[in-house]
Parts: sequence; C-alpha cells; structure tokens
Amino acid sequence: MTHFLKETDFSPAQAAEVLSLAKSLKRNRGKHTPPVLSGQTWAMIFSKSSTRTRVSFDVGIHELGGHPIFLNKNDIQLGRGETIHDTAKVLSRFVHGLIVRTFDHSEVELLSKEGSVPVINALTDFLHPCQTYTDAFSMAERWASNDDLFGSLKDRKMVYYGDTANNIANSWILGAALFGMELVLCGPEGYQPQAEIDAALQASGYDKTYSFTSDALAAAANADVIYTDTWVSMGQEDESKERIEVMKPYSVTSDIMKQAKPDALFMHDLPAYAGMEVQKDVLYGEQSIIFDQAENRLHTQKAIMAELARSARSIAKDI
Ligand code: CP
Ligand code: NVA
Repeated sequence: MTHFLKETDFSPAQAAEVLSLAKSLKRNRGKHTPPVLSGQTWAMIFSKSSTRTRVSFDVGIHELGGHPIFLNKNDIQLGRGETIHDTAKVLSRFVHGLIVRTFDHSEVELLSKEGSVPVINALTDFLHPCQTYTDAFSMAERWASNDDLFGSLKDRKMVYYGDTANNIANSWILGAALFGMELVLCGPEGYQPQAEIDAALQASGYDKTYSFTSDALAAAANADVIYTDTWVSMGQEDESKERIEVMKPYSVTSDIMKQAKPDALFMHDLPAYAGMEVQKDVLYGEQSIIFDQAENRLHTQKAIMAELARSARSIAKDI
C-alpha cells in the first residue's frame, strides 16, 4: 500500500507523473475529470485549523467523483482517548482513504501501518508534503517550456527565510533533494534544521542538497525563488514573543528580492502575516505567486489522490 506521508514516498517518476497530472487536471477542470474516486469515501481527520488544505481536499475529492467526510478530531472518539490503532482499523472498514492533519508525525505513520487504506499527510509538526508538491507544480507551470514539468525544476535555487526548523523547511529539504534543486535555508542560529530531517533524507536514499546561512542579503544572490512561512507555527503560540524577536532580521523585504534574479518568484504557503515574515509590498507585489500556490493545492492534491488510487487499483487507463 502506497501512502503519502513525506515527499520521498513517491519515486521521482511518480512525482513527475503527479506534476503532469496536476497540469492536465487544471487545464481540464470542469470539462473532463477522471472519476478515479467514483464510489469511494475519503475521511479527513483534522486536529489543527485549516483553510486551504481542508477546502481543497473537500472540493478535490468531490470533483474526482468521491465523497469527503470531514472529522474534527474532537468530534470523534480519538479526541476522547480511543487509540490510533483502533481508529485506523475501524475507519479502514468504512472509507477508502484517510487525509490527516495532526501534531506528532508518528500519528500519521501509525495510522498508515495499522490501517489498510492509503493515508495522506495533510500537515504534521514535521512535514507538509502536499504543500511541497503544490509549490513545485506552481514553479514548474511557469518554468517548463515543454511537458517536462519535473525537469524544469532541476538546478533551480530556492532561498527559504525564517524558521528553518519547521514543517515547511523540513518538507523543502526533502523536496529539494527529490526535485534536484538547490535549497538555501536562511534564519537565526538556534532554529536550524534538526538531525531528524537529515535522518529522513538519508533513510530515503537522497543526498543533502541544502545549506544553512544567517546572512539574509547574501543568501538571495542568484535565487530563482524566495520563500518564507510564518515564524510561529500552529502549536508554538507560547513561544511567539521570542520567535518574533529573533526572526526579525529574516523578514523578506524588497531589498532581499533585489538580490535575487530579476524574474525570481516570491512564494508563501499561507496563512501569511504581513509585516512579520514578509513585508506587504513583497507579499502582494508583482513577483508574488501566493494565490496561484493556494489554487494549485486543489489540482496537485487531486493528482496525488489519483496517483494513490492508481497505485492501489492500477487504473491508469482511466486518467
Ligand atoms: N498552507 C496551508 O496548508 O494552509 P491551511 O493551513 O489553511 O490549510
Ligand atoms: N508552519 C505552518 C504552516 C501552515 C500551513 C504551521 O505549521 O502552522
């Protein structure tokens, strides 16, 4: 059973297929949608807030012919202490796939081991792979001069500013290795990538393609993409004051954008906090593609679900 818990759960060939499929699903939306989830019900178990992920999965399952069920963790017995083991076994008897947003990454791993349906990681404290694939598609749809979206990412340079130890930074460490990109992580010392992500990279069989620096202006030189994320992730609210203080020098400004290539993209997974991790003129400026990124969650996640359904049932000819 193939799951999508981290970027490297798909091979480079599968990742390339997801990007191509996202392109065709986007182009054909409303005209021709392969009903790859026809007759299926997928459950979305969320323990954290969400706008983009929740809505795009709900709409995406519906558009692929399936039925979504949204389950707030506190509305089901999991929130009252029923084990993940039992929850996985029971839900696997009802639904065809699980989409899970939670805190501890080990919970999605356990659900995938104990259940018997595909599990998609919709964000944990450790990783947010649906975002990475969407980001990759959002860049590739601008850069690819032919159908090779995956190939258009190769050797591109992304500079990520701010909290370089959070789920988005970790995900881009795996993503950069998978897509053959150079990743420069730029932020304060003390919030650097942890050993756990290097171990995940190694366990997936990839070499490290990232470096870390605290020099905000120098980092941006020759960048194709400038990326940032909130300084205070969900669950870190108690640390807000100290995080904001130490990350202030890493706010993305127009001065940083000027160091990058003239046609560099500005990207943010959203929600964004203007005046904090990015200044308003950059967030809503001409180089920003933040709302395309948000829209592309829908197309890319439909492609991810189609890829999982295809792996599970070998229905490639339907797509
Ligand atoms: N980027 C993202 O995952 O947004 P939500 O938290 O709104 O789902
Ligand atoms: N790092 C952020 C991402 C939100 C989509 C968080 O975990 O809150």
